[in-house]
Amino acid sequence: MKKLIIEGGNDISGTIKISGAKNSIVALIPASILTNGKCVITNAPDISDVRILLDTMRTLGSEITFENETITIDNRNVKNKKISEEYASKLRASYYFMGSLIGKYHHAEIAYPGGCVIGSRPIDYHINSFKKMGINIVENNAEYIMDVDKINGSHIYFDFPSVGATINVILASTLASGTTVIENAAKEPEITNIASFLNSMGAHIYGAGTSTITIEGVETLGDGYVETIPDRIEAGTYIIIGALIGDNLKIDNIIEKHLESVLYKLKEAGVKYKIDDQSIIISKTNSLKPINIKTAVYPGFPTDLGQPMSTLLTQCAGESIFEETIYENRLRHIPHLNSMGANIKAFERTAIINGPTPLRGRKVKATDLRAGASMLVAGLIAEGRTEISNIEHLLRGYERIVDKLSSVGVNIRLIDDEK
Ligand code: EPZ
Repeated sequence: MKKLIIEGGNDISGTIKISGAKNSIVALIPASILTNGKCVITNAPDISDVRILLDTMRTLGSEITFENETITIDNRNVKNKKISEEYASKLRASYYFMGSLIGKYHHAEIAYPGGCVIGSRPIDYHINSFKKMGINIVENNAEYIMDVDKINGSHIYFDFPSVGATINVILASTLASGTTVIENAAKEPEITNIASFLNSMGAHIYGAGTSTITIEGVETLGDGYVETIPDRIEAGTYIIIGALIGDNLKIDNIIEKHLESVLYKLKEAGVKYKIDDQSIIISKTNSLKPINIKTAVYPGFPTDLGQPMSTLLTQCAGESIFEETIYENRLRHIPHLNSMGANIKAFERTAIINGPTPLRGRKVKATDLRAGASMLVAGLIAEGRTEISNIEHLLRGYERIVDKLSSVGVNIRLIDDEK
């Protein structure tokens, strides 16, 4: 099992460059299935989720290269095949093969998606929308079998602006006959990135990034090109680290607009920073003020930064309240923070955090991807040595994390104690 070993307590300085967004590229790759043409995806992060998706595409017959942050996908020989449990169960985003395969071939077979255990995570919005579009879905042996003669344009309304369901409906309706309108759609920047990729192939998608998206179906698509947007969650994690131990730490390749809610909250805690074009320069703040955080859909405070941010709240002078509104089981990192010396009381989705409390290095576990990020932040500010196990979770979403942190002066290493 892989582990991260961190000797914490030192300030860091230098430059960290942000990679392409995990939650964008995991949709861009399956989206390429909609065209028989060639696709080029740049600023692609080399993370395990990407490797799994590219392997899945190869099982369908895609010819793929991945060099220098650029993925080329040639789908001329792609055949519609079942997405087996071996691949689908490894990540949540495998559900994007539902939208792209049914959209392209009017038939799809796919095993249940995997992903972080942060709540029940049903996909009823996806299934109900597909059914609304006339798609027949049978659930059998932990897999979905989907069939449709012709996908007609539909009017879809979401009870909740789900990111995944919004993207899956876009994928299923891009080649549909007629126009599909999605109301109360998710507005996350990753959705705009997917729409611009499909529009580069000749799709007609309007309103991505707003709560009403219109997709006028087209017959075929051509070659596609897209630059993956910077990962705002990776950026937010390093900005939080900079607010705690930075010494003019520069974080490069960010989009300020995508980070507004995070920066607003850090400013409220008394953090000072300077934005310079597509970078931010940030230094530690010795007396952080307590703040309250309530996660929300974009442009609210992202749930994916809730866990690393709660580590920062342990260093605020006074009582902070953290409320997770998107997932029902995303506070599993708190007992580990308390074992390092934090003073947190957790109730269901709410945590009451009193600080500042010095943290001490310990053996802790990453219970999911962003819980891993919370442990990482804790290990960096803690006195002594922290050992984080189950680190595979973290590596799914943070490219070259050891290199990036070592390059700014962190004493960190990855060990694999199977050796
Ligand atoms: C995406 O998940 C991200 N994952 C998540 O990031 C992120 O937390 C989430 O959006 C919210 O921003 C990827 O992009 C691969 P949702 P997704 O559908 O699409 C409920 C990370 O750490 N829901 O917007 O699955 C659901 O259970 C990951 O990078 C239904 O009830 O999120 C959740 O409570 C974790 N039925 C809420 O809605 C549905 O059909 C938001 O889910 C769909 C969702």
